[in-house]
Amino acid sequence: MSMTIRQIGPCFAGEVEGVDLTQPLPPAEIGAIHAGMDEFAVLIFRRQGLDDEQQLAFTKSLGELEHAIGTSLRAPEDYRLPTTFADVSNLDKENKPLARADRRRLFAIGNRLWHSDSSFKPTPAKYSILNARSIPSKGGNTEFADMRAAYDALDDETKREIEGLICEHSQIYSRERTGFKDFTDEERERFEPVRQVLVRTHPVTGRKSLYLASHAGTIVGWPLPEANIFLQDLTEHATQRQFVHVHEWRVGDLVIWDNRQTMHRARPFPAEEPRDMRRTTLAGDGPTV
Ligand code: OGA
Ligand code: MN
Repeated sequence: MSMTIRQIGPCFAGEVEGVDLTQPLPPAEIGAIHAGMDEFAVLIFRRQGLDDEQQLAFTKSLGELEHAIGTSLRAPEDYRLPTTFADVSNLDKENKPLARADRRRLFAIGNRLWHSDSSFKPTPAKYSILNARSIPSKGGNTEFADMRAAYDALDDETKREIEGLICEHSQIYSRERTGFKDFTDEERERFEPVRQVLVRTHPVTGRKSLYLASHAGTIVGWPLPEANIFLQDLTEHATQRQFVHVHEWRVGDLVIWDNRQTMHRARPFPAEEPRDMRRTTLAGDGPTV
């Protein structure tokens, strides 16, 4: 059977069938996946059941890897996975769920706010590839929002207003929204803000998208409260149901999203249950500013 993609979201998000990602893919299928990403921005591969090695091999077949170093509150000796993976689980090194009040967990659940991966890095991420190795008994969906459709739906005056605006992104900003504020001096230095444009243009399709994230905490040249309220308004607009697709995980599902064209967020689940999600990430082409 050859590879097919069927749109399952309101304006984006395709489910892919007829491909086995545990095996090396021929160039034509790699090309079809990139073309599918350009069009649908999120691709869902049900029940692929990849192990770490297969996930890494598949990721590398799509492009250059972004490493996950120093982006969480885990100390390097505390990593459960190699830095080729972003550990999106709620597990410690012994594979036990982190205690509810553990600051590593309280930092990590910041991904329940709408965001785009690594927008806090000078060169932000291209694709994220998330593999469900174990899932909780309930909750824990991941939601995606189409930032191209959200951009298109803005009125012309707003489109003019946001063209050329530059935001500053940091994990400090996203976490402070949740009330998490007890960063060490070392962490404040490590999470220093970076600049990103607010409107991005896709290099292949030429479509514009809103480049928003909970990490965006200021607009350069704007008074802070006004910037925050404006970004909040845009985020509310961009995450209306008509722009959102909800993924309900099954073990072995693999989902790829384009961070340049979408936002996503995790949804809550019982804290005492393991949720082992492993992300590989493709590096972006360069800074957006
Ligand atoms: C991520 C992420 C959401 C989730 O992997 O970058 O935000 O539902 N994941 O785990
Ligand atoms: Mn994320």
